Amino acid sequence: MDQLIVTGNGALTGEVRISGAKNAALPILAATMLADGPILIDNVPHLHDVTTMIELLGRMGVQVTLGERMQVEVDPRGVHTLAAPYELVKTMRASILVLGPLLARYGEAEVSLPGGCAIGSRPVDLHIRGLTAMGAEIRVENGYIRARAGRLKGARIVLETVTVTGTENLMMAACLADGETIIENAAREPEVVDLARFLSAMGARIEGAGTDTLRIQGVRSLHGARHQVLPDRIEAGTYLVAGAITRGKIMARGACPGVLDAVLQKLREAGAEVTVHGEDIELDTGGRRPSAVNVRTAPYPAFPTDMQAQFMALNTVADGVGTIAETVFENRFMHVQEMQRMGARIQVEGNLAVVTGCETLTGAPVMATDLRASASLVLAGLVAEGDTTVDRIYHLDRGYERIEEKLGQLGAKIRRVRK
Ligand code: EPU
Repeated sequence: MDQLIVTGNGALTGEVRISGAKNAALPILAATMLADGPILIDNVPHLHDVTTMIELLGRMGVQVTLGERMQVEVDPRGVHTLAAPYELVKTMRASILVLGPLLARYGEAEVSLPGGCAIGSRPVDLHIRGLTAMGAEIRVENGYIRARAGRLKGARIVLETVTVTGTENLMMAACLADGETIIENAAREPEVVDLARFLSAMGARIEGAGTDTLRIQGVRSLHGARHQVLPDRIEAGTYLVAGAITRGKIMARGACPGVLDAVLQKLREAGAEVTVHGEDIELDTGGRRPSAVNVRTAPYPAFPTDMQAQFMALNTVADGVGTIAETVFENRFMHVQEMQRMGARIQVEGNLAVVTGCETLTGAPVMATDLRASASLVLAGLVAEGDTTVDRIYHLDRGYERIEEKLGQLGAKIRRVRK
């Protein structure tokens, strides 16, 4: 199993290019199954989760060819198996995204229930309820969601909680349904909007993407298309925090600043000068220690839960006391205990963490059981005295492309070793 060894060595400086967004690439790959013709997707990030989705599609009979420069060609015309097995779903919850497309296109799907997760219970009841409202017959048995339908019917669905993949599953299914589907309290995340753009390029009729009401007029069929995945705002945010925490100066290239307002606002509050140049974001701390910030996660456009752990790391060495409230997932503080082992002063009460900044952290062996928590430990390692060994980095490889190479380009001392 690989580990990362991070040795704190001061300010990061330089440029980093942002990859395509994992959480847009995954639903887009699943959505290819809705089409009757070949698809070309550009800017697909090279990540373990993407490989898992491609493997899952492959098993169903979708032909996926990896081209040069992050291009993926998909031919969905040979689908023969309408199932997502437990062995794959348990490694990646986003596999649930094949449920809507399979059901809408082929009238049948058998998808394993994702099961437990490190960051919360993460049920998929809203996906199931929405599809049921569209006329599907769904049974949950033997750990599987077994769904059947003739042509799905348009429906008005009010989501009880804002759910990103839930909105995506229902939006994809509605594209081929008979009549109009209205999804209220829909997720407004940029990745949902990117998926809507892709579906529209295939001939879907979707209005309201980016608002909390989606209106989808079902069509008979969708055709092949070409699409470029939007940049990963969480990857960009993570590198910007790397600049801020190390009192550095960095430029995130191709970062799509328009979808990072809440994060950029917090970086400014932390004392960094943040300047937007077209699609690039420059962060300059002027060598100053960051100030503590208060963060409260919530669905987009509020502060993203996927950036919570990274800002916790920032607060551990900031000047002052910062609070972090996690409102999206009930158990997303696993990084706290690991940071405490590095000398961080953090108190947790329910979903609130109070972080008192200290002058410095000390390196330690640490590990995390979730992607963003792992990233936050790497960030803490960048400012710790001595070596921080981050274990179980397969979580990082699920969502950050070549993280040690990109951080290395910015001057970080970081290496991957095999245990
Ligand atoms: N929820 C339900 N019922 C449902 C669906 C969701 O109660 O049927 C609850 C969840 O338990 C949670 C809240 O709704 O408390 C929001 O969860 P959501 O469904 O939005 O999360 P998700 O779609 O499973 C996506 C991202 C996550 C990201 C969340 C929140 C993908 C593939 N995953 O998950 O990304 O944290 O939205 O923004 O898009 C990551 O990249 O590290 C990651 C975990």
